[in-house]
Amino acid sequence: MSSDADKRPLHHSEVAKHADKDSLWVIVNGNAYDLTEFAPEHPGGMGILLKYAGKDATEPIHPPGTLEQYLPKDKHLGPVDLSGLEIVAKEETQEEKDRKKRAEEKPPMDECLSLYDFEAVAKSVLPVGAWAYYSSGADDEITMRENRNAYQRIWFRPRILRDVTTIDFSSTILGHKTSLPIYITATALGKLGHPEGEKNLTWAAHEQGVIQMIPTLASCSFDEIVDAAKPGQVQFMQLYVNKDREITRKIVQHAEKRGIKGLFITVDAPQLGRREKDMRQKFADEGSNVQRTQGESVDKTQGAARAISSFIDPGLSWKDIPWFKSITKMPIILKGVQCWEDAVLAAEQGLAGVVLSNHGGRQLDFARSGIEILEEVMRELRKRDLLKNGFEVYIDGGVRRAGDVLKAIALGAKAVGIGHAYSAYGHEGVIKAIQILKDEMEMNMRLIGAPTIQDVTPEMIDTSGLSNRLVDGASDYLMRANYEPLAGVGNGLGAQPRLISKETKASL
Ligand SMILES: Cc1cc2nc3c(=O)[nH]c(=O)nc-3n(C[C@H](O)[C@H](O)[C@H](O)COP(=O)(O)O)c2cc1C
Repeated sequence: MSSDADKRPLHHSEVAKHADKDSLWVIVNGNAYDLTEFAPEHPGGMGILLKYAGKDATEPIHPPGTLEQYLPKDKHLGPVDLSGLEIVAKEETQEEKDRKKRAEEKPPMDECLSLYDFEAVAKSVLPVGAWAYYSSGADDEITMRENRNAYQRIWFRPRILRDVTTIDFSSTILGHKTSLPIYITATALGKLGHPEGEKNLTWAAHEQGVIQMIPTLASCSFDEIVDAAKPGQVQFMQLYVNKDREITRKIVQHAEKRGIKGLFITVDAPQLGRREKDMRQKFADEGSNVQRTQGESVDKTQGAARAISSFIDPGLSWKDIPWFKSITKMPIILKGVQCWEDAVLAAEQGLAGVVLSNHGGRQLDFARSGIEILEEVMRELRKRDLLKNGFEVYIDGGVRRAGDVLKAIALGAKAVGIGHAYSAYGHEGVIKAIQILKDEMEMNMRLIGAPTIQDVTPEMIDTSGLSNRLVDGASDYLMRANYEPLAGVGNGLGAQPRLISKETKASL
């Protein structure tokens, strides 16, 4: 391989000759890279690399800096001369034209009154593939829906005649201040929904005084996201553990050096769940291909274990915990714990906390919701006195209202993560969504008689129905017919009249 000094611009036609698995080059951001040896370890599988082999792979795949992070220097082949490269413009489909029109005409942000409204707008204006990736759950999406349903089985037991003139919902997470007990959890591929990707979340988190967790599979590079933070802004990091522990060590230590305050190791994804809505979109981006190309290799060549071990290590186990503790001083939290036994093990190992989570219903279908697990986890941790060293319990999945947050706090969660932060309005939309949660929080705390977070106690909720899981229970259709979603964006149930006509009324 040539040294840096004698690198001259390669012509793109030269790169085009290296278009198979025995010699696999790609162009990213005007530079060529030799991925031949790296290809079997590619997080998105081999299939997607072969699709772009010999070609420009900038657009669909990598945030700046990704390849530099993973590839040894001698695989950087230098700048590419793109002269004479014919760019064939893709013809716009009717669906894409319609979507763009809907995006131009989307409702003013101020008309969004709840997080559901943001979701409805996102469904209407995001590219089909992006919406499919963001909104899909695993298999029959039972767990994804259960994440919402579970909150509807918990009711309040408000207290009265308490002075609720002043409401303070500020709290701490791992000792760091947060303006309310939520954090922005890790969601991959932010640029599918908005060109600024995860930086929207960084800016909004700062503006609203909440903490952002940076995903391993972000669309912006890790450093870009950290650089977007304001001085003193606290950020956490979510980690998918690579089979190559040297890569993992480098990522973790770099994060610590850049001031990250907590390491959330995802433990519920030794293999990615099947998200069929996403897979149906013939969507050629990394998010989908993490599943689809691995699916292909499962069928055709290597079997399931090998397919996923190319990136996220299915061999990760409790034995690895001491190693993580040896390479970083950051507090370590396990994200994706799903029963009290594992929460107890985490506390016994001296970890800083756990996130009770089923990955937003995107992994194991029929996994229970975080809020249901919370009850048993807190009971067993208290029984064993395992909370005394500051062990914290967080939950995520299905939180869309401040009432949900309060239910989790009452059951003992320190904070909740919110993932489905859709990007139809960029960072201003994220700011507005958090503001809505704050407004709801103030009202709810007043109405339950809790002026501070410490006043939100277990007696304030009735959990007697919590474990009565009903799949596809009876729907209240009359209520639905009367509910008026934000006009002009539909709600997935077909066109909805804004008001019920006389004829409709007569037929009810
Ligand atoms: C689009 C999307 C991408 C996600 N990507 C990741 C990820 O890369 N790593 C991870 O640990 N969790 C990921 N999650 C799971 C979230 O961190 C979180 O557990 C979940 O979204 C919480 O549920 P909610 O979306 O209903 O709030 C993702 C979730 C979504 C919706």
